[in-house]
Amino acid sequence: MNETFLVRTFGCQMNKHDSERVTGLLCAAGMRPVTEASEADVVVFMTCCVREHADERLRGQVASLKSIKAKRPGGQTVVIGGCIGQRDGALLLKQLPHVDVVFGTHNLSHLPSLLESARIERHSVVEILDATGEFTSDLPGEREHSWHAWVPVMVGCDNFCSYCIVPYVRGRERSRVFEEVVAECERLADDGVLEVTLLGQNVNSYGRDLYGEPRFAELLNAVARTGIARVRFATSHPKDLSDSTIAAMAGHPQIARALHLPVQSGSDRILKAMNRDYTSTHYLKLVDRLYATMPDLALSTDIIVGFPGESEDDFADTLGVVNKARFDQAFTFIYSPRQGTAAADMDAQVPEDVVHDRFDRLVAAVQNCALDKNRKLVGTVQRVLFTGASKRDASVLAGRTEGNKVVHVRLPEDRDADDYAGRFADVAIEEARIWSLTGYILQDIGVKRSG
Ligand code: SAH
Ligand code: SF4
Ligand code: F3S
Repeated sequence: MNETFLVRTFGCQMNKHDSERVTGLLCAAGMRPVTEASEADVVVFMTCCVREHADERLRGQVASLKSIKAKRPGGQTVVIGGCIGQRDGALLLKQLPHVDVVFGTHNLSHLPSLLESARIERHSVVEILDATGEFTSDLPGEREHSWHAWVPVMVGCDNFCSYCIVPYVRGRERSRVFEEVVAECERLADDGVLEVTLLGQNVNSYGRDLYGEPRFAELLNAVARTGIARVRFATSHPKDLSDSTIAAMAGHPQIARALHLPVQSGSDRILKAMNRDYTSTHYLKLVDRLYATMPDLALSTDIIVGFPGESEDDFADTLGVVNKARFDQAFTFIYSPRQGTAAADMDAQVPEDVVHDRFDRLVAAVQNCALDKNRKLVGTVQRVLFTGASKRDASVLAGRTEGNKVVHVRLPEDRDADDYAGRFADVAIEEARIWSLTGYILQDIGVKRSG
């Protein structure tokens, strides 16, 4: 019988992509994926430490495997990889003694041999490297959906926003060779992939380290010509988003008119303390240029509430930017001090009750904007890429518009939701909710998914 494994993923899209590589590597080593921890000979956690909550959840989940491991006749190999692995290394073995293997963000390809060493040596193995010598896309992969692929164009981050742990656990910015990214997208298009998401912590500075200047707009233009039907990318930094990138988005129907542009705060004082290197005026001017070029753009953002020293006036500035930028979606976070970052040592941490009150007001403002934007889509036709049945109701199909909005339509009678997964259809939008749209299928475009 083949050995079995389970991968549990926390954190951002980069981790999701890394998990697809872990799955690919373990399948290539002859192992078989399962969905229950109790059935898994090996459990791999791909971890995130961007906020404390993710840290705590991981520890809870790893601890809960202790009894499963003790009960299974053949035991269980518990593996921690990703950003917490990178940050904590051998310390994890002290805190969680039933962990067998720890690896980091720079040595994912070593996982099969680390598992082998743990087995042969019959004790725990820790390997953490300081810098990346590999791009995980170059490893075998098992895509979660046959029609979608994550494509890293760069790894790491040089920005050192004062609250953020990412540069410490993902290392310095390293871009992937231009031709390699394009060749990968061409292969994916041949393989039937309909949508790719180009990934990087700061995609706008793609190429700076390799070519002396950013080449992201050029890369977008080239990827748009590979035959991929829908191209997305994340994340853009407001200080680096160029007019040529905006022009590339506007110039190719294949590039989704959806942009994730984290603002983090609307207060210039706080933005400075965050080391973001732009002002709220710069951000709003950028937004004006974006809407002037693409009136139908869907704009999303990230916002942190309760950064050290944030006053009521600072928070009012954030609400002001939310209302002016007319976000389609905003991911809102309560500031979480991360040891080792500059902000963790700043004075004037904001009291919890004040932060929660601001957070609730921010969410209400964001929901207003989102509903407003969605209402404008009622009566329009949107091209939707279906993902399958809705998680809540098997008789409803779910998919995403070009603007990355969730759309629900009733599953036509006698049809299987899986028939639609990985297919485009034009949907007439009838109703808007805060985080989703509903409508009916006008025309099934019928692009067959691969696999
Ligand atoms: N590279 C991306 C994403 C970084 S992490 C970017 O620059 O936007 C995703 C989001 O987590 C950030 O945009 C930020 O809003 C949030 N975040 C990062 N560190 C945080 C912290 N210490 N506390 C709360 N939110 C944080
Ligand atoms: Fe973190 Fe800032 Fe880099 Fe984004 S740009 S990963 S928020 S340091
Ligand atoms: Fe988390 Fe690491 Fe991504 S800390 S947000 S998984 S880069």
